[in-house]
Amino acid sequence: MDFQLTEEQLAVQAAARDFAQTELWAGVIERDEHQKFPAEQIKKMGELGFLGMMVSPEYGGGGMDTVSYVLAMEEISKVDASCSVIMSVNNSLVCWGLEKYGTEEQKRKYLPRLTSGEIIGAFALSEPEAGSDATSQRTTAEDKGDYYLLNGTKNWITNGTTASVYLVVAQTNVELKHRGINVLIVEKGMEGFQTGPKENKLGIRGSDTCSLMFNDVKVPKENRIGEDGFGFKFAMQVLAGGRIGIAAQALGIASGSYELALKYSKERKAFGVPIAQHQAIQFKLADMATNIDAARLLCLQAAHDKDAHQDYAKSGAMAKLFASKTAMDASVEAVQIHGGYGFVKEYHVERLMRDAKITQIYEGTSEIQKIVISREILK
Ligand code: CAA
Ligand code: FAD
Repeated sequence: MDFQLTEEQLAVQAAARDFAQTELWAGVIERDEHQKFPAEQIKKMGELGFLGMMVSPEYGGGGMDTVSYVLAMEEISKVDASCSVIMSVNNSLVCWGLEKYGTEEQKRKYLPRLTSGEIIGAFALSEPEAGSDATSQRTTAEDKGDYYLLNGTKNWITNGTTASVYLVVAQTNVELKHRGINVLIVEKGMEGFQTGPKENKLGIRGSDTCSLMFNDVKVPKENRIGEDGFGFKFAMQVLAGGRIGIAAQALGIASGSYELALKYSKERKAFGVPIAQHQAIQFKLADMATNIDAARLLCLQAAHDKDAHQDYAKSGAMAKLFASKTAMDASVEAVQIHGGYGFVKEYHVERLMRDAKITQIYEGTSEIQKIVISREILK
């Protein structure tokens, strides 16, 4: 067993850390406050290769491994979890899914622009009546010969208003249940496709989340990904990998909270000494550091499993379950260590605490991760 990162992985980690500190830190409070989409920052992330990290260079990607992706996600999430969710959806759900299961034509058409950040992608599975219960799709894709007629509503879609390409899950044959589901590539501007208003959210406020409405949208047959009826398996496959990305996002929120709390505890004095000298604070820091190291090991284990072409549904779910709880706990404690200063925006930790919550909800709630883990254990 080798716990050493390679030189390449260390270089990716350092580049992501440098980018996050120099390009993301300065405006993050303002973007959060005004729900401002980080357009310039995402453009730069595309230029630096963070939007298509695992895609083969043949399609404009970085050809990197999942371990490097986890390291970069952690560093960017330490500073701006809105940027990292945009990055995660584009990398794990859209680019990875397209490269793995798309036709050569689909890959050539979309991947170079998605990896460079010229356009960004979205993944649309959730619906008002189908969140955790993802097989209950109400959106329909009626087979009309050379096209599908798409009707229905998706909600909570990350990159909803800003994406140009959407991977949309829809039911073609209701009798076949989840085996009658397809995933279609929908482009912004297709007739009958509209996006709803941006949601006003608790956290990750820089990322845009909205509903998508499809009203008799004609989607060409060549825009289907995979064989007829492959859509649900496609969704489950991309989510298994996506959960590693969100686990790394949660890890970054936790370690960002910890780093701020550690620094503050050495500076702030109470009762004549830095608060870091009080055992109550030391124990909080010890718990945070221990859980963060454990979360990082789970994230790297899942990434390693994926890179080694081993099954990663269970390890990815475990990483997400544990890292998201760690993000919640560490960010709450970081606010506590900051006392009253933790409750105001300029100290950053209140934002990290608000951002942490979503990691226990999207890409499968914590309860759903436990379903995935227990099914794997018991099968
Ligand atoms: N890989 C391939 N196929 C898989 C799979 C995997 N990892 N997991 C399940 N499947 C297949 C099963 O084999 C089964 O197919 P067959 O019957 O042909 O064998 C099919 O999927 C259905 O599986 P289940 O019977 O287990 O289905 P279920 O109804 O019990 O639900 C579930 C399973 C795990 C709960 C699933 O519904 C689920 O993951 N729900 C959560 C949805 C979710 O994560 N949404 C996230 C939306 S995207 C997002 O959130 C992005 C963002 O925020 C940034
Ligand atoms: P529900 O499924 O209604 O769950 C409600 C509660 O019941 C939860 O606590 C849940 O864990 C629990 N529960 C449900 N079923 C069970 C069960 N069997 N056993 C135990 N407990 C259960 N979706 C996309 O498709 N694409 C996106 O890009 C995307 N981005 C998102 C961004 C944000 C900011 C948000 C808030 C959501 C996003 N989602 C996205 C949707 C997200 O994946 C869903 O919100 C999530 O899967 C939960 O679905 P739900 O909200 O319908 O909750």
